[in-house]
Amino acid sequence: VAFVPARAAVQVKNVSRLCHAKPIVTVNGMYPGPTIYAREGDRVIINVTNHAQYNMSIHWHGLKQFRNGWADGPAYITQCPIKTGNSYTYDFNITGQRGTLWWHAHIFWLRATVYGAIVIMPQNGTSFPFPQPHMEANIILGEWWNTDVEELVKEGDKLGLPPKMSDAHTINGKPGPLFPCSEKHTYALEVEQGKTYLLRIINAALNDELFFAIAGHEMTVVEIDAVYTKPFATQALLIGPGQTTNVLVRADQLPGRYFMAARPFMDVPIPIDNKTVTAILQYKGIPNTVMPVLPQLPAPNDTEFALNYIAKLKSLNTPQFPALVPLKVDRRLFFTIGLGRNPCSTCLNGTKLAASLNNVTFVMPKVALLQSHYFNIKGVFQTDFPERPPTPFNYTGAPLTANLKTSSGTRLTKIAYNSTVEIILQDTNLLTVESHPFHLHGYNFFVVGTGLGNFNSSKDPANFNLVDPPERNTVGVPTGGWTAIRFRADNPGVWFLHCHLELHTSWGLKTALVVEDGKGVDQSVLPPPKDLPPC
Ligand code: C2O
Repeated sequence: VAFVPARAAVQVKNVSRLCHAKPIVTVNGMYPGPTIYAREGDRVIINVTNHAQYNMSIHWHGLKQFRNGWADGPAYITQCPIKTGNSYTYDFNITGQRGTLWWHAHIFWLRATVYGAIVIMPQNGTSFPFPQPHMEANIILGEWWNTDVEELVKEGDKLGLPPKMSDAHTINGKPGPLFPCSEKHTYALEVEQGKTYLLRIINAALNDELFFAIAGHEMTVVEIDAVYTKPFATQALLIGPGQTTNVLVRADQLPGRYFMAARPFMDVPIPIDNKTVTAILQYKGIPNTVMPVLPQLPAPNDTEFALNYIAKLKSLNTPQFPALVPLKVDRRLFFTIGLGRNPCSTCLNGTKLAASLNNVTFVMPKVALLQSHYFNIKGVFQTDFPERPPTPFNYTGAPLTANLKTSSGTRLTKIAYNSTVEIILQDTNLLTVESHPFHLHGYNFFVVGTGLGNFNSSKDPANFNLVDPPERNTVGVPTGGWTAIRFRADNPGVWFLHCHLELHTSWGLKTALVVEDGKGVDQSVLPPPKDLPPC
């Protein structure tokens, strides 16, 4: 086992974009933060010291943290935050995973600036199941606000309104020349003609699913969420917040300068956000004066492209990398995703937006859930989360605009160790249909089916892909549709399940699964580390 020790100093730094300077929270003064390079099988030890004025916690998005939720990071779910002046050491093994993942702050909206890539190389002696690229690069998509994000969120909360939209999208922290004052904040990747490059694309944006394309260059998708896929070529790709996508790109065009670009996917009649972030694919020896061309991105509301793209994602499913899809299901859950309104005395019209699963808006506890589970501290959460919506209705029929009050609570679902679980995530028209990227901590799951309209339990399962479905940690539930996921609950602990749109998470679109300990050796949650932050 190799050790990958690292120090992460959470500190404030002045950064300027779009001619607006502001103090932002960073790790080691970097924006985006440093990349963690590791190899499958490594033990990673990261000492985080918090020098910022905010409480902090860091999540290693997509790492399974087997029996070791203590290192997972979501504040008040697996740990209490690291207070100003304190530190905590995240200590974890990377087992059975290789590929691209990422890390980010998991408290308030601090992941707006606190994020970075995790690159896990294949185990020594093994290689990629695709041709070895000449070189690789990280492409991290993000969002930039000209003013303080935490302030915006606070103001919005008071009035019951969402904070204003970001001012730019970014690639590796840079918006590119289509934004004002951003000529010098443009990421460029130099390539040599005839060579092949591996791009590790990460969507670290807070609230947008994004289309991504490179002018004149086809991309071959080879991995999603650190799981190899059956390779396929595409002109553009769709990536939701939390997701990663590895592509191979061959520099096979006339030497020149080509824009890479990303723009939100918004499948609503009038997309409100169509700003485009650009970076440059620059052939060696070509002067910077040559004006690059823009790629053809799908229209912001091109649902058809999105659905076709998603349908092409399949697990590689070879003897070396099998797709171990649970064929039989022990536990079936049906969660409706709704947006509603709850009372609010300071809000403009007396109500604020609230998001819910099965009509429950999640309330953050004061004591971390994993601690209360492990030490059996009573009164922190209930395990009575409804297995299905309280009153079934036509989920995706005519819009329901009634003022639907949701109930609030810290309610979880208890799952028996090693049982096989199926969750149907059903979007609803409560207020508005919308696409939701759902993320489960502690696991990868298989996306066995997806469709538009209401899930039909007597018809739809017949069409499930139980052979080579995509395996991932974050999946988009289509607007006015459903997604079915399956996994084996072999990782004991308390695992967060939430929409990765920060707006929706903050409105309560989240819950957690309590996976019980098994009876055998190596089947229970490990003891907590000594320096686990106290609540
Ligand atoms: Cu990437 Cu719970 O988050």
